[in-house]
Amino acid sequence: MIDSARAYHDGTAYDRHEMTGHFLDWGNQPEAFKSYAGFETVQLPNVSPRHECSVWDLADTNRHMDENTQIDAERLAGILLLSHAVTATTRHGTTDFHFRSVASAGALYPFELYVAVFDVPGVEDGLYHHDVAGRGLTLIRRGNALADLRPAIGLEEEPAPVLMFLLTAIYFRSSWKYRDRAYRYALLDTGHLAENLALALTSERIRFRICVDFEDDRVNGVLGLDTAREVCLAVVPAWGQPSSKRPGAGLSGPRTDLSRFSRVAAREVEYPVIHEAHAATSVGKALVERDLEMADRLGLHLEHELPLRRPHTLPSKMSYPEAVLKRRSMRNFVREQIFADRFSALLGMLCAEPLNRVAAEPTADASICVGFLAGNVEGLDPGLYVLNRQRETISRAARGFMMDKMTHVCLDQEWLANCAVHFLFLSNLDFLEASCGPRGYRHAMMTAGRLGQRIYVSATAMRLGCCGIGAYYDDEAASLLGLNDAGRLLYLVAAGPVRKYYR
Ligand SMILES: Cc1cc2nc3c(=O)[nH]c(=O)nc-3n(C[C@H](O)[C@H](O)[C@H](O)COP(=O)(O)O)c2cc1C
Repeated sequence: MIDSARAYHDGTAYDRHEMTGHFLDWGNQPEAFKSYAGFETVQLPNVSPRHECSVWDLADTNRHMDENTQIDAERLAGILLLSHAVTATTRHGTTDFHFRSVASAGALYPFELYVAVFDVPGVEDGLYHHDVAGRGLTLIRRGNALADLRPAIGLEEEPAPVLMFLLTAIYFRSSWKYRDRAYRYALLDTGHLAENLALALTSERIRFRICVDFEDDRVNGVLGLDTAREVCLAVVPAWGQPSSKRPGAGLSGPRTDLSRFSRVAAREVEYPVIHEAHAATSVGKALVERDLEMADRLGLHLEHELPLRRPHTLPSKMSYPEAVLKRRSMRNFVREQIFADRFSALLGMLCAEPLNRVAAEPTADASICVGFLAGNVEGLDPGLYVLNRQRETISRAARGFMMDKMTHVCLDQEWLANCAVHFLFLSNLDFLEASCGPRGYRHAMMTAGRLGQRIYVSATAMRLGCCGIGAYYDDEAASLLGLNDAGRLLYLVAAGPVRKYYR
């Protein structure tokens, strides 16, 4: 029985000596796209991205959010396009496979995106499912869903949002391949989607917040999910020009049973461990202020802090929308150094206050420590470093070239040895639970996913390669990095020059 995040994380660790073969049941492959057959789908206006801003503009602390942004159908279509889109298609035999703008472990895309709309010109009030393949919105419930959702997110005291995005995950899409370990990917992947949404809303200067702390049952109930299969992991209210319309009573009309739409395969295998982990991490608590930060809780011996050097000119080769829509996982890394200005730009993005602290709950920031293995970074000795995102400094924790050893730890995915840098998302799971409650694990994993997606988009904008890595031997990773008893690597993201773009 899983009763804590640590028990789940350790219970789903990969061990080199205990890896069992696992055949994928191709005949029972989960449906990649959710579809509400028989429900009305409205086509989104055909928009192309309006803002040709750079990725760096989105991290600018002087970029003001406009509380009065008028959100209409076109603007909503633009946000959805930049948040979640099909961006490439390949053919396997007689079937097409669609890749998305969001990275996802095994390209299994467990997440779904919904949006509650109230008084948005051109869109009827209601709760919609985003039909990513058809570029439409399926109306699943009529009325003002925001009125039903606000109390569940603790937003009664704040002005009424105009939109609320709801990000869910369907377990079986990932557990079909990753079995018990799939809850990790559900959280990481949903974090990737949340970051794309955050970047899109920031580009539109729309104020928003990524909420991970909410009443699970009420939110899942409004969405009509079958919670044995699909659960909401994040809710993102967004504020625009306040409505002059009377809010009304909430959702209207008879409540239809929507739970059958959470099923994605004829024979779904249940993994009780996943349900137990989700239940165990349902309880949160207000962040306890501590003197020590996560970086001080990992057992690392940090040398003195060095300030980040911000590059004079930011090296953009692509605009932000182009980078989101062109992003791909790259594995053809070359053993070439990443230039200092590009590396500083990546670190600067990870520190971006508007995206870290303004856009998220305080627990998000406190839940993880960002580190990196420098293998081939101009002006930086190889070693393990920790990034302090508030003070914008780095501190060395260990000296020496560790890329080969980390590659061995990452199931010997050999191309990883050529990467210039491995970004590391770390947490002490006992301290996390003590300071943020069990729900801190959801924050930590989704924040890791968010930052991972940010690295992907920023690296792409500079024509660097990037690839997320969820497959590693957990104990070996902790021991290679010198982490203490409860210190864990949650996620790794590799980045650096790749053959495609090199020279
Ligand atoms: C959480 C996560 C874990 C991943 N783990 C690995 C990995 O261990 N090895 C790998 O080669 N790719 C990994 N990837 C990359 C995915 O395979 C890739 O995102 C997916 O195939 C979709 O392709 P795209 O990113 O080019 O759109 C991971 C991605 C994510 C988001």
